[in-house]
Amino acid sequence: MQKHKTVAGIIAMKKKGEKITMLTAYDAGMSSMLADAGVDMLLVGDSLGMVVLGYDSTVPVTMDEMIHHASAVRRGAPGAFVVGDMPFGSYQTGARDAIINGGRFLKEAGCDAVKLEGGFEVCDTVTAMVRAGISVVGHIGLTPQTATQLGGYKVQGRDIDSARKMIEEARALEEAGVFAMVLECIPAELGKIISEEIAVPTIGIGAGEGCDGQVLVTHDMLGMFDKFIPSFVKSYCRLAPMIKEAVDSYNSEVRSGGFPDEAHSFSSAPELRKLLGL
Ligand code: KIV
Repeated sequence: MQKHKTVAGIIAMKKKGEKITMLTAYDAGMSSMLADAGVDMLLVGDSLGMVVLGYDSTVPVTMDEMIHHASAVRRGAPGAFVVGDMPFGSYQTGARDAIINGGRFLKEAGCDAVKLEGGFEVCDTVTAMVRAGISVVGHIGLTPQTATQLGGYKVQGRDIDSARKMIEEARALEEAGVFAMVLECIPAELGKIISEEIAVPTIGIGAGEGCDGQVLVTHDMLGMFDKFIPSFVKSYCRLAPMIKEAVDSYNSEVRSGGFPDEAHSFSSAPELRKLLGL
């Protein structure tokens, strides 16, 4: 089993020039496989709302749903570095709520850290959480919880003013105390500039190779969720058609009597029918 990573260890990876891998996990089975494969950080993303709970966006996801899934992820991967994603409404109301809800991820689900979306508007909250002992990952660029205010799911920071603002927000978040920062859906050059401007690691998703690490939604990179695949996602395999093929075979074997066969059945006492008087 891998040695449990720490916040200091993750920051040190940037200093050593080691790229950081992060993938999402929502259940024990997947977290166990990802940890065994050596992923550096597991993110219990609020993307679970769309990927596993069937919501249209991440907005409806509740704290209780996040805790339920984060606990499962921790049980599946006791030695992994697990980050719980603060859902919409769990931190925007201020530092007190953010500390209570962030604390739940640590106390009830056994997470190592939490992630929250936003720039200048969340800096005071981040500082209060870090003071309270909660390690925080920031998230700027495309922030799905407020995507409607950003004009939908589209690339952010393309013009000079918004690029400059994003660099300043990254600096402010670092100053506020985040130990890492997700950069989502921004031009590759801007991802590289922000990564050079701050000392804490950047974890990119659609933010180019200049980031200190990368994160993807696991269902996307495994080709399991094919309703909508953003252009920055690389699918390393296509599980959805393989699952369909396996289920087609199962259906036809059950219907034809081909499953279960002798190899997948238990044998009984000899002459069971006779002994039962049948
Ligand atoms: O919820 C999530 O999965 C995320 C990643 C896309 C970074 O926030």
